Amino acid sequence: MLNTSRLIALTLLCASLTACEGPPPEPPLAGATIGGAFTLTNAAGTRMSDTDFRGQYRLVYFGYSFCPDVCPVDLNYMSLGLREFERQSPDRAARITPIFISVDPARDTPEVLVRFARQFHPRLVALTGSEAEIADVARKYAVQYSRVPGSNAESYLVAHTQLVYLMDPDGRPLALIPHDEPGTEANEGAPALIAAELDRWVR
Ligand code: NI
Repeated sequence: MLNTSRLIALTLLCASLTACEGPPPEPPLAGATIGGAFTLTNAAGTRMSDTDFRGQYRLVYFGYSFCPDVCPVDLNYMSLGLREFERQSPDRAARITPIFISVDPARDTPEVLVRFARQFHPRLVALTGSEAEIADVARKYAVQYSRVPGSNAESYLVAHTQLVYLMDPDGRPLALIPHDEPGTEANEGAPALIAAELDRWVR
């Protein structure tokens, strides 16, 4: 219901400003039921919950370290984009924690994730867990994954949703980050696009 007196007050406020830009744009994922509570295990073997990231924006990506091509490329762009934003706005960039959540907990042990995560960004938090814990957090983030039978028991692939979420400091979803947007040749435009999105939503 529109409150008339409030509308008039806003109109007068706008009229009193030389350039009224209107309210800030609504984040595209505002109000979406994405995210929620989790407790998983990081690459140091320490249990971590969503509440440990309170006060931090989060870039959240689900994948697996044995992924032959897609995950490393996505994580590389996500990391390059964050590095670009770190150069532009170091204070705001420091408020962002990049998070990788494994959809292949059988092979992605903490020991494996230590080596994997350090290839990308020094602050990348890599998380794994039990099959049930991973299924639960994936469902909360609307991420689907399934094991693709391989030629032997150890060499399987995992098909998975390929999204980078930006979450706010309370763990609510803000936007999907266009990590693989077509850029110029070899996708070299991607880090700049990512940095621009971070600049748009991170305060
Ligand atoms: Ni992958």
